[in-house]
Amino acid sequence: MSPIKKIALLTSGGDAPGMNAAIRAAVRGALYHKLEVMGIIRGYQGLIEDDIEPMDSKSVSNIIQRGGTILKSARSKEFLTPEGRVLAYQNLKKHGIDALVVIGGDGTFTGASIFSSEHNVPVIGIPGTIDNDLYGTDYIIGYDTALNTVIDAVDKIRDTASAHSRLFFIEVMGRDAGFLALRSAIASGAEAVLIPEVNTNYQKLSEFLSNSYKKQKSSSIVIVAEGDKVGGGALRTAEKVREDHPDYDVRVTILGHIQRGGSPTAYDRVTASRLGVAAITGLLENKRNVMVGLVNDEIVYVPFEDAIKNKKPIKQELFSLIDILSI
Ligand code: F6P
Repeated sequence: MSPIKKIALLTSGGDAPGMNAAIRAAVRGALYHKLEVMGIIRGYQGLIEDDIEPMDSKSVSNIIQRGGTILKSARSKEFLTPEGRVLAYQNLKKHGIDALVVIGGDGTFTGASIFSSEHNVPVIGIPGTIDNDLYGTDYIIGYDTALNTVIDAVDKIRDTASAHSRLFFIEVMGRDAGFLALRSAIASGAEAVLIPEVNTNYQKLSEFLSNSYKKQKSSSIVIVAEGDKVGGGALRTAEKVREDHPDYDVRVTILGHIQRGGSPTAYDRVTASRLGVAAITGLLENKRNVMVGLVNDEIVYVPFEDAIKNKKPIKQELFSLIDILSI
């Protein structure tokens, strides 16, 4: 028999489409196993401020298709302090909560890991971030929806780029990771991509642009991850290109938070449903301080430490595709 009778759920960090589907699955998975469920509003900050309420099956009706998170999210500065975490622990005890399910990215799991080792609270994590950058899982909730949002936007920009024979730099999210940039560049037929993982040589981009101009390419799209190493995002890179290539008519679009919203794709809904239920079964099987993930489409449990400390590598094969396909 598991000692866990009552759990609480929170979402933290940048929201991602499919978080609601994961909340729904975790709540219903817990109820199925006769656990009591509480929802913590505004992530760790809500836990510190005792913003906690009971959840039942009805609390998660009609949310599988909605973006955002019904539990709301926050990036709590107070939870970074030992004093903040003591307050959080006291509130857990006050409500008789035995375990936590946290949905988010590396910041969320770093907090969970520290909290759990300081106060001996069982925690399980469900990965949700459009960055898709956690080690130990092939896929993270929100990534597929964000990818489709980016592609839809780039397709539209390409229409006007082509009409005016312009070069567009399109910035997508990803402070430290280029997964969203790389896949969206391939899927939208972009001519080049700049990502944080690859120390892109500005010279290479510049030569490519000179060659394209010589070949009379009528329009071009360069996808830039916000944390790229060339020059701090699309605006700075575009400025430099304008100076070095005055023949190009350059424009910049920063897609921004549109990438975080919207109704989740079927893939995100199904993945979130699987991971949400697997988080509960993991807890009941005594799995502690792990993230539930997917490897080769099978459920895996990865220690928080591994998920946080290791860097998920980008696939070189995907990166090379861009050069080949943009000749
Ligand atoms: O981690 C998800 C993410 O969307 C990153 O891609 C981005 O750099 C960051 O969050 C933006 O955070 P905020 O919404 O707090 O500005």
